[in-house]
Amino acid sequence: MAKLSKVVFLWKLLSIPLATAYPQLQNELKQRAIKPAEVKGSYDYVIIGGGQSGLVVANRLSEDPKVSVLVVEYGYFDDSYDVLDIQQVFRSTTHTKYNLTSVPQTQLGERNQVQGVPAAAVVGGGSAINGMFFNRGSADDYDNWEKLGNPGWGFKGLLPYFIKSTTLQIPDAEFAKEFNVTWDEKVYGKNGPIQASIYPVQYPALKSVWTGFEELGAERQKTGDDGNAHGLFWATRSIDDRTRTRSYARTGYYAPVADRKNLDLLTGWRANTITFDKNKQATGINMQSRDSITDAKANITSIKARKEVILAAGALHTPQILQRSGVGPATLLQKANIPVLVDLPGVGSNMQDHPQVTMIVALLPLSLVSPSNYTTLAKSYLSQSSSAYLPTSYTAAQKAGYAKQQQLLGSSLLRKDNSAIEIPFAGNGGYYLLMLTKPLSRGTITLDPANPYAEPLVDYNTFGNPVDLSIATEAFKFGRALHGTKAVSSTFNPVEVSPGVQVATEKDLQRTARDTVVSTTAHLSGTAALMPRELGGVVDAELRVYGVQGVRVVDSSVMPLIPGAHLCSTVYAVAEKAADVIRGRNLSELWKWEEKERI
Ligand SMILES: *[C@@H]1O[C@H](CO)[C@@H](O)[C@H](O)[C@H]1NC(C)=O
Ligand SMILES: *[C@@H]1O[C@H](CO)[C@@H](O)[C@H](O)[C@H]1NC(C)=O
Ligand SMILES: *[C@@H]1O[C@H](CO)[C@@H](O)[C@H](O)[C@H]1NC(C)=O
Ligand SMILES: *[C@@H]1O[C@H](CO)[C@@H](O)[C@H](O)[C@H]1NC(C)=O
Ligand SMILES: *[C@@H]1O[C@H](CO)[C@@H](O)[C@H](O)[C@H]1NC(C)=O
Repeated sequence: MAKLSKVVFLWKLLSIPLATAYPQLQNELKQRAIKPAEVKGSYDYVIIGGGQSGLVVANRLSEDPKVSVLVVEYGYFDDSYDVLDIQQVFRSTTHTKYNLTSVPQTQLGERNQVQGVPAAAVVGGGSAINGMFFNRGSADDYDNWEKLGNPGWGFKGLLPYFIKSTTLQIPDAEFAKEFNVTWDEKVYGKNGPIQASIYPVQYPALKSVWTGFEELGAERQKTGDDGNAHGLFWATRSIDDRTRTRSYARTGYYAPVADRKNLDLLTGWRANTITFDKNKQATGINMQSRDSITDAKANITSIKARKEVILAAGALHTPQILQRSGVGPATLLQKANIPVLVDLPGVGSNMQDHPQVTMIVALLPLSLVSPSNYTTLAKSYLSQSSSAYLPTSYTAAQKAGYAKQQQLLGSSLLRKDNSAIEIPFAGNGGYYLLMLTKPLSRGTITLDPANPYAEPLVDYNTFGNPVDLSIATEAFKFGRALHGTKAVSSTFNPVEVSPGVQVATEKDLQRTARDTVVSTTAHLSGTAALMPRELGGVVDAELRVYGVQGVRVVDSSVMPLIPGAHLCSTVYAVAEKAADVIRGRNLSELWKWEEKERI
């Protein structure tokens, strides 16, 4: 393949400085992507997707030398140095992303209806191109997963995996003293693959913004990563502070094990479908080389999976691959002329992301964002008919599942130890990004019935539920209150440029939110949800897809409710736990989280 050899050539030019800086990458020099001719006919496990979760599971499953693993990734290795350069946050190179936009969001302003759908197409996935935010949701967020009928998936069940996937780098003492930086070593690993650090370059005026939040009642936490993700705290970044470079799934999980003989990674191929036998047991996949996908029939290769097919294609493509394989909403599959193997309406529903309104980590309970209105808002949400604002495709079971989510989310909105809004902040004043951490609206991802091989149709359904819009306007008001605090106004003397003080009535604020909201923080999730089948779920508590055998999902699609955090660290924890579930281990049993000794 021409592309592959070009990549290898580039790598050679860069290999000296990179290998010096990253000894763990040296293994990768020996064995990188295999050539198509080297792919074997069968493996124990075939993993679809060499992104963040796929590389975690590939690493853990191939620890057993008797087990063989193939990872099939649509993207390529990105060897450009700027993938590691932390100045290049939110890297916007087109060759490492899919190219698609959403269907029109009719609830939004006319010029704002077609929204971007950022999704990585590169070895390492989202962790290779994200902003490296590395915080966790509140304990309540994950406990809600468990309450939806998923034993073992609460905060206690996930914490060992948050620990296992990370190494905390302790901040420099002088920096920590100057900014009163706090953390808790107990909730991080000492030798995990992903480096977590607190970025040590800060503006002195940060202290004023911090004080401004405190004036409004936000409480300082020692850390947000022990389940107390509310109030003010120092969030870690997935940055290796020793080299000031990105720490991501490729450097942490793939490079150190790339020379394993039982692990193959193939890049530049797309998984088309999962194949099944008469008993609905998965037998493998059909895949197609990326340079020939314009012809749906060219270069299709079948690979057998002796044990399981593992979906790690992300919340965007995992449901599409299931749908293409005949597992999904029957009405949709019939429209696309795909034989229905399992009518599983939840595949592609329950889609959640964090919408953000612009004005620029504080995680604020609704009671703090909106002291006068928060009970009204939560109650108006709880008293909604639960099916009122759902996508029209929802079945009775899916509606029942959402009714359960509604009860849980409604009470989370009333809690003081969980958040409704995230405001990452720095000491440079200015711009606030207000992220809704508990979106109540639900979107969908469906294959395009006219062409199941084209990119899927993405409907965020942003502000589909009107309470989301009200919470966004309350967030605007909070941003203004923060500007008005003694600490912030005396330090920055801020002038509101956008939306501008003339935008004052509820109606005007709502219009501003509709006109300026961004539907996504690239936190797409929920589209193959961990929930009982009778509540519209797609996978059971062991991540097995209902109605078939030998297929599991291990990526952000399984999150039944989006946690109030950037997703990266939760994706690692979920994938680590998934690997143990697949291996039939139970780490939470072996590993009490108070224990000092850790892997
Ligand atoms: C992305 O897709 C659009 C429309 O489908 C197309 O016009 C554009 O050229 C594509 N961009 C890239 C970089 O492929
Ligand atoms: C530093 O943080 C601790 C809590 O983590 C708090 O008790 C203390 O008051 C803070 N000190 C300053 C100077 O802000
Ligand atoms: C894919 O098929 C085309 C012809 O259909 C051929 O020219 C090309 O070499 C094939 N590529 C691979 C990787 O097999
Ligand atoms: C919130 O309270 C303000 C008055 O403080 C009121 O004008 C506004 O309509 C309320 N919003 C909601 C959504 O209840
Ligand atoms: C793991 O062990 C704990 C404690 O015995 C138990 O509560 C939990 O259900 C187990 N989880 C799995 C996935 O077996």
